[in-house]
Parts: sequence; structure tokens; C-alpha cells
Amino acid sequence: MNKVYQGVFVVFVLGLLACSYRLYPLPSQRDLNLMKDYSPMLPDSIELSQGSQLYAMKCGKCHYLYRPHQFREEVWRTQVQEMAARSHLDSAGRIAVLQYLLTIKKWEEWKKKN
Ligand code: HEC
Repeated sequence: MNKVYQGVFVVFVLGLLACSYRLYPLPSQRDLNLMKDYSPMLPDSIELSQGSQLYAMKCGKCHYLYRPHQFREEVWRTQVQEMAARSHLDSAGRIAVLQYLLTIKKWEEWKKKN
């Protein structure tokens, strides 16, 4: 019987870890400030983390979470627009997800150059 409880506990802890697991590291506020020279109009780190959580919660239900670098900006714009309806995302959520994806994409490009 003890083993059963242990099993339940392990599953519970793994579940907690899975929920709190953040998909990709987010840029620090310092990196975001530096990137503003390269690309103005970036979200701040709070908006970014909200976008990343929405993306992880809403966009991974039907397929794996596509990585930001996998699509060009125009493709992301149309895909997020289309997928927002399937994910029951309101317009604020849609903007947060798009901002998140495009910022990570820009951050990855920026890191390569700097
Ligand atoms: C209800 C299921 C569902 C949800 C939720 C969903 N998608 Fe999709 N997604 C699909 C399906 C099915 C496809 C396959 C192509 C199609 O039907 O348009 C797809 C395709 C895509 C593609 C294109 C992949 C390619 O290779 O061209 C992208 C990008 C994408 N989804 C992003 C998102 C994002 C971002 C979200 C969250 C806002 C999201 N999806 C939420 C079902 C979903």
C-alpha cells in the first residue's frame, strides 16, 4: 500500500514540475533594454512572461509548441491570428502570444550578432 502512495506522490510532483516548467529561457530585462536599439517596441519582461505562459497553456494542446525561430514573422502573424480562434484566445491574449514569439525570435537573432 505504501508503494501506491509513493507512486501517487511521484506522479503529483512530476505534474507540478511539468506545470511550472518554462519552455524557453526568457531574456532578462537588461537584454531587453539592450535590444531596444536593435528593435524598438519590445514588451517588458512581465508582458513577455505572461505571453510565454499563455503560449504554453493554449498552443500546445493539439500539436507540439513550435519554436519561435521556425517561422518568419509574417507566418507567425497569420498563424497566431488563425490559431487564436481555435485556442479561445481573446485579442489581448493573441497580442501577448504574438509579442512573445516575435521577441524570442528577435532575441535569438540578437544574441548571434552580439
Ligand atoms: C484546437 C487545436 C489547436 C490549437 C489549440 C492550436 N492549434 Fe495550431 N494547428 C492546429 C492544426 C490542426 C494545425 C495543422 C494545419 C491547419 O489545420 O491549419 C495547426 C498548425 C499550426 C501552425 C502551422 C504549422 C506549419 O507547419 O505550417 C502553427 C505555426 C500553429 N498551429 C501555431 C499555433 C499557435 C501559436 C497556437 C496558440 C495560439 C495554436 N497553434 C493552437 C490545431 C491547433
